[in-house]
Amino acid sequence: METILEKIERDAPDREKIRRAGKILQNGGLVAFPTETVYGLGGDALNPASSRRIYEAKGRPSDNPLIVHICRWEDIYRIADPVPEAAYRLAQAFWPGPLTMILNKRDAVPLETTGGLDTVAVRFPSDPIARALIDAAGGFVAAPSANASGRPSPTVAEYVREDLDGRIDMILDGGEVGIGLESTIVDLTGPEPMILRPGYVTKEMLETVLGSVDVDKTILEKDCKLRPKAPGMRYRHYAPRGVLTVVEGMPEQVAAYIEEKSRAARSRGERVGIIATDESESRYRARSSADSIKSVGSRTDEDAVARSLYRILREFDDEGMTVIYSEAFAQSGLGQAIMNRLLKAAGHRVEKV
Ligand code: TXA
Ligand code: MG
Repeated sequence: METILEKIERDAPDREKIRRAGKILQNGGLVAFPTETVYGLGGDALNPASSRRIYEAKGRPSDNPLIVHICRWEDIYRIADPVPEAAYRLAQAFWPGPLTMILNKRDAVPLETTGGLDTVAVRFPSDPIARALIDAAGGFVAAPSANASGRPSPTVAEYVREDLDGRIDMILDGGEVGIGLESTIVDLTGPEPMILRPGYVTKEMLETVLGSVDVDKTILEKDCKLRPKAPGMRYRHYAPRGVLTVVEGMPEQVAAYIEEKSRAARSRGERVGIIATDESESRYRARSSADSIKSVGSRTDEDAVARSLYRILREFDDEGMTVIYSEAFAQSGLGQAIMNRLLKAAGHRVEKV
């Protein structure tokens, strides 16, 4: 299959391009598109054949449910029942935006879309291209991140092409995404709201609306034997090809440790990459013998760190790094999502110095 690549402006999406993309979705095809978090791989959420095609194109296990994207609040009533008061209040505060809610599903949503679960993940994205496309597709678009299973989520269209060219009908290229990490997932089907995946909408932000919010224990604990409640969090996601280790401790010691380890790895013939910060980058450049040193941004700017992380992991793949060291980040606010993704990419390989 030839994949059509179409550039499209975020602020004023071309109507004709959106109409064509919407038609592809209505006919059971697949279109990758930008959202404010990461690029998504869209199919008609109410068509079981489309969902099967999504799993096939990504090489993703079909027990890993998809998020249904909507573009109008009222549409939630067509796919979820009941819609609790908490969902309404969260929507008022954070929709459209990077928040996904888990609710009990209605029959309209096929089990192929929910990976066999009787719950459905619903998200109302803010990106204008995403919203226009969902509307043109009929209102309900299932979309996982548009990466091949096991690779970092794409933050630009070029990464979607790398992973899915020839496997999907169209890629809408709307430029770089704004956030760079996937949406926060909150489960509203239990006795207490629970975060299943941390993201840009933080626990603190959710608590201003809901009072107290639980966090799935498997997100916080390293050697947790429990099953994550979001099936996707079970898989070793976001994995770079090189062996990634996260190093925690005081900045000076962390840098010295990483320098020492990277020297030893290079003498064994490894290609070594270091994920530094603006604060530490020059130090590594002066002393370390690593093959590639990249700053993920300033420690004081978590938004920048979130936006760069997946890009750097992919660049290290492209440069053939076999060993990667990264500094750790504080676990408050957005830092919780950043560390969650970094630790998953590292398969929880952490050294404390
Ligand atoms: O930001 C995002 O959410 C992006 C963009 C494209 O919207 N999408 C995304 O989708 O990250 P995906 O498929 O890569 O991740 C969805 C996660 C998976 O971990 C999946 O297991 C979980 O959501 N999930 C989906 N439906 C669920 C459900 N009914 N119950 C529990 N977890 C669910
Ligand atoms: Mg994903």
